[in-house]
Amino acid sequence: MSREKHDVYITRQLPRQAVEMLKPECSVEINPNDRALSRGELEEAIKGVDGIITLLSDNIDAELLDLNPDLKVIANYAVGYDNIDVEACSDRDIAVSNTPGVLTETTADLAWALILAAARRIPEADRYTREGRYEGWGPMLMLGSDVHSKTLGIMGLGRIGKAVARRGSAGFDMDVIYYNRSRDEEFEQEYGVEYRPLDELLEQSDFVSLHLPLTPATEKLIGEKELDKMKDEAYLINTARGAVVDENALLHALREGKIAGAGIDVYEDEPKLTPGLAGLDNLVMLPHIGSASVETRSEMAVMAAENMLAGLRGERMPNRIN
Ligand code: DGY
Repeated sequence: MSREKHDVYITRQLPRQAVEMLKPECSVEINPNDRALSRGELEEAIKGVDGIITLLSDNIDAELLDLNPDLKVIANYAVGYDNIDVEACSDRDIAVSNTPGVLTETTADLAWALILAAARRIPEADRYTREGRYEGWGPMLMLGSDVHSKTLGIMGLGRIGKAVARRGSAGFDMDVIYYNRSRDEEFEQEYGVEYRPLDELLEQSDFVSLHLPLTPATEKLIGEKELDKMKDEAYLINTARGAVVDENALLHALREGKIAGAGIDVYEDEPKLTPGLAGLDNLVMLPHIGSASVETRSEMAVMAAENMLAGLRGERMPNRIN
């Protein structure tokens, strides 16, 4: 007699590996639209399923969980899980997983793309050239800032923070300093990286790159006071979560020239943009594509499916977070 299949919902089309892996054991339903689910659609989707694969844009709160007392597994298709009320899941015996590790190097690459793009004014120079405004080499044309040999300040020395730090010290001959809840002396020694308290890191860095998870303690950690501490010629890079930065304070700092520029992949209230941001030439803006390589998104799909299958089978999920 064949065992009944588990019902799984996937809130957005993912690389095909995920569905292929799930199919033998699960009846899989996928959001048919190429957009995030509305709250109402998410409420309908979660009802009656055993497991759900969610995105960082799906707000999984207690109220939503109460719509399905039989839900067993949530596999978040992201390393960050600030979109999920993990405590509410634990209270209801729902296992939750994320996708750590596989996106580390890809996200670090993108943080570096933002560092270089902001410092060397790449998007602005690209627009200038396309618009037919280039009339010949100029000694003062599009002068930016050097990156090599400067000071890189890493906030949050987790996997991605470390990968960004390694690129800075090994590839760009930078002095790398970091701020983190705890020190990592082994990493300090291996890569010649030095710890600094937050204020000192802000004061000394030419590039401040954020790699902190979004928690109540890190929400708006970078506000007016912190931006004021940064050098006038410094850049802020954010590939972590938008709400770690007070976006209005950033807008003001960029407008007033309190910092030289910024490169951001994430926004306080995604996908909405704080009015005024998009008009700034000293800001490079990306649509949350830190992990967006074909290879990495496929690996994330495999990881989410592996977690889902393990959770549904009652086995230990490889990346369970609660
Ligand atoms: C994550 O995984 O948390 C990134 O923000 C998107 O891949």
